[in-house]
Amino acid sequence: MRSDANIAGPMTDPVPGPRTESAGEDVSRETPPPMDDTPIGRAAQLAVEALGRAGEGLPRPEQTRIMVVANQKGGVGKTTTTVNLAASLALHGARVLVVDLDPQGNASTALGIDHHAEVPSIYDVLVESRPLSEVVQPVRDVEGLFCAPATIDLAGAEIELVSLVARESRLQRAIQAYEQPLDYILIDCPPSLGLLTVNALVAGAEVLIPIQCEYYALEGLGQLLRNVDLVRGHLNPALHVSTILLTMYDGRTRLASQVADEVRSHFGHEVLRTSIPRSVRISEAPSYGQTVLTYDPGSSGSLSYLEAAREIALRGVGINYDPTTHIPAGIQNNQHSMSEGIQ
Ligand SMILES: Nc1ncnc2c1ncn2[C@@H]1O[C@H](COP(=O)(O)OP(=O)(O)OP(=O)(O)O)[C@@H](O)[C@H]1O
Ligand SMILES: [Mg+2]
Repeated sequence: MRSDANIAGPMTDPVPGPRTESAGEDVSRETPPPMDDTPIGRAAQLAVEALGRAGEGLPRPEQTRIMVVANQKGGVGKTTTTVNLAASLALHGARVLVVDLDPQGNASTALGIDHHAEVPSIYDVLVESRPLSEVVQPVRDVEGLFCAPATIDLAGAEIELVSLVARESRLQRAIQAYEQPLDYILIDCPPSLGLLTVNALVAGAEVLIPIQCEYYALEGLGQLLRNVDLVRGHLNPALHVSTILLTMYDGRTRLASQVADEVRSHFGHEVLRTSIPRSVRISEAPSYGQTVLTYDPGSSGSLSYLEAAREIALRGVGINYDPTTHIPAGIQNNQHSMSEGIQ
């Protein structure tokens, strides 16, 4: 029943073609929609059921977990990971807010959120001190998922923030003042280490680093890790790298498994056991304003993000979940200096 859509292995999608009904293989189309009455929301719910653990539920964090999705290298899967993990967590029953902190506005696009120049956005929050509640929009088709969009204005914020009071902690303040109950906040960072990313690092407690399984995967990561250390030392003592996610894993290539081995040997416990396969469906979904969870719920990409979300949720309550066996293993305590040996 379960797909092989997690962990290392040949996990590319089937031949590209029109949108498939692949979630339906083992799942009755008659299943009543438990949480969403839109067709794609229902299809995504079926994907959760396709994993065979529907209704089992995931533990909710005691406090809102704020995860900063960062890597200053461009195109490694930050946005893809932010939106798909957020949708997965929401489909698992959590209430999740995506904060789009990238002037490119890719996360807003992928979530189908209007973000033309006049839309109230995270720029207004950071620069004009507008309450976060005035810019947050619900995401169509996925119950429990919300987005604070980015507009093109944000491109100027990096400069405008410089002269503002408490320029590094404006996002943190806005989040602290936001009163809606949330289980997770996922912040999608731009591919740079400027003031926008610093605002995210000050606002969050956890850093999630997506690493693309390609050559030079670890290059430049040292700078990010040093920035995390700096922010922890001066502005946010709770900050730590909690999660590394291997993305665009192509099990057919030796390079991908070499990179995965290298990342695992360097970071150890922080690396999720689930890796995300290179998948045509994942890359197609944003052009429909959708996550892969609603675009093709049964695809390997969708199922792997659901698994990654599950692992993250369980780790949050101290369970080291092994998706290959479905058996929670004892948690390892791997204390080491992360930037050691990294450029
Ligand atoms: N698992 C995957 N399989 C196939 N394509 C992917 C996958 N993950 C991401 N992509 C594609 O790779 C490209 C870069 O991904 P994404 O935009 O998520 O990276 P990013 O790190 O947010 O980029 P940027 O640094 O520009 O913000 C996009 O075209 C995306 O659709
Ligand atoms: Mg991005």
